[in-house]
Amino acid sequence: MNLEGKVVVVTGAGRGLGRMMAVMIAAKGGQVALADISEEGLKETARLCREAGDKASYYITDISDESAVEQLFTNVAGDFGRVDATINNAGITRDGLLVKSRDGKVVGKMSLEDWISVIQIDLRGVFLCAREAAVKMIEQGDGGVIINISSISRAGNIGQANYSAAKAGVAAMTVTWANELARYGIRVAAIAPGFCDTRMVANVPQKILDKVKAKIPLRRLGKPEEIGHSAVYILENDYFTGRTLEVDGGLRI
Ligand code: CAA
Repeated sequence: MNLEGKVVVVTGAGRGLGRMMAVMIAAKGGQVALADISEEGLKETARLCREAGDKASYYITDISDESAVEQLFTNVAGDFGRVDATINNAGITRDGLLVKSRDGKVVGKMSLEDWISVIQIDLRGVFLCAREAAVKMIEQGDGGVIINISSISRAGNIGQANYSAAKAGVAAMTVTWANELARYGIRVAAIAPGFCDTRMVANVPQKILDKVKAKIPLRRLGKPEEIGHSAVYILENDYFTGRTLEVDGGLRI
C-alpha cells in the first residue's frame, strides 16, 4: 500500500506508540483518523500529524463500546470518504500477581475487575475495531490493511495474566482474520512490541524494570519510532499478512 492519501485509523492515538505511529504515517502522506478517550492527547496528536503531513481528525471513542466503534468507522468513512487501514493499538494494563503471598499467607490476588477491564479494552476492543474496519473495507471493495498491536507479553509475562491473555488472543485473531479476509484483498498483521519507552512501561517498578532490561540483548528499551517504523513497513509491504512482527530487542520472556 502506498500511503500517499490513504486513510488510516489509529486507536489509542492520544499518546505513546499510537501517537508516534500516527505521526509517522502522516509524514508518509497518509491521512489519519485518531481515536482515544483522551481529548487532550488527541488534540496534540492531531496537531503533530498536521505539522508532519496532511489531514488529521480525531474522535473521542471508547473502543470497548460496540455502538461507539460502529459510529467511529461510520464517521471516519463519512469525513474522509473511505477507510484504507486501521491500527488497533489502544490498550491498558492492570498488572498484578495471580496470587500474592507473604510468609506462606495469601495477602492479595488479581481482582476479577482488573481481569475484565483489560480483556474489555485489549481483546474485545481490538475485535470490535477490526470487525468494523473490515465491514467498511469489504463494502469499498478494494482491500485494506488491519494491524493489531499484540505484545511480547503474549508469551506469558509475570504479573500480567490479564494482559498476556488478551495479547495472545490478539495474535490468534490476527491469523484467523488474515485467513478470513484475504479473499477481499485485506491483509491483517500484528506487531508484538517488547518493553518500549512509554508511560505504560514507566509504571513498572524500577527494580523489576532493571531485571527486564538486563535480559534484553540490546540492553535498552524500544523507541516509539521503532514501532512506528514497523507499522509503516507492514502497511507498505503487500506480501505481509497473517504474521506477528516481533520488535523487542531480542528479549525472550
Ligand atoms: N521479571 C522477574 N521477576 C519479576 C517480574 C519480572 N518481569 N515481575 C515481578 N517479578 C518478581 C518480583 O521481583 C518479586 O520477586 P521477589 O519476591 O523475589 O522480590 C515478585 O515477582 C513479586 O513482585 P512484587 O514484589 O513486585 O509484587 P507486587 O504485588 O508488589 O507487584 C506486580 C506485582 C504489579 C506484578 C509488579 O511486580 C509489576 O509491576 N511487575 C511488572 C509487570 C510487567 O512486566 N508489566 C509490563 C508493563 S509494560 C507493558 O505491558 C507493555 C508491553 O507490551 C510489554
